[in-house]
Amino acid sequence: MKTVINRRTQLQVAYSAYTEAGDDIGMKFFIDTANVQAIREAHERGMVDGVTTNPSLVAKEGRNFREIVNEIAAFVKGPISLEAVSSDYEGIMKEARELNGWIGNAAIKIPMTWEGLKAVKKCAEEGIKTNVTLCFSPNQALLAAKAGATFVSPFIGRLDDVGQVGMEVIPDILQIYSNYGYETEIIVASIRHPIHVYEAALAGAHIATIPPNVLDQMVKHPLTDIGIERFLADYKKIPTAQEPKKHGK
Ligand code: G3P
Repeated sequence: MKTVINRRTQLQVAYSAYTEAGDDIGMKFFIDTANVQAIREAHERGMVDGVTTNPSLVAKEGRNFREIVNEIAAFVKGPISLEAVSSDYEGIMKEARELNGWIGNAAIKIPMTWEGLKAVKKCAEEGIKTNVTLCFSPNQALLAAKAGATFVSPFIGRLDDVGQVGMEVIPDILQIYSNYGYETEIIVASIRHPIHVYEAALAGAHIATIPPNVLDQMVKHPLTDIGIERFLADYKKIPTAQEPKKHGK
């Protein structure tokens, strides 16, 4: 319990530091999927400020990548992350320029390597938005910001997978960015369950990229369901209004 409280305090301290810096802290939700129907549903519910994809998510759909991207871009106006898969600078830049030409709101996902960071710097010079992916530490996030990344994506769930509390990197990155006024936005990524979203919000992260199943879990609470049932049952017990008596007959 003590650990939980300490961790919560740490998250809240980072949040205060961030708000004191005067930044716009409205939390954005990106949807972490390449499933157009799932994005559409979340969009209709007002929950989509952007979309993130990666090669694994696109492969799951078994469809042409560009077709998927065009369909998403037809209704999502916020940033749509599209991943470059080359490992060398030239290859990443070729892909970045091509993917960026597909739609007007692309953010090119580039891996956290020196070749990748070199490409991030070049993209910034060319006005191409970037999302530095596969980030696992505050120092890596610092490098992404220095290179001029638009977004950085710390992969929280994958850190949890290897026995490190993933969320702990978020307040540190926020603090570092706040110390120097970096404008790179943090996308809390590799989210696996609602507590990840809750903690990302508590920490004051700019963005959480949320898989559709986690978004569905967030709206649910057993007491909400029980409450709805109870109100409905009680409503049925309310006497209906009497028909007014007709006089003179
Ligand atoms: O946003 C990154 C995400 O797609 C990776 O998630 O669950 O494969 O670690 P996961």
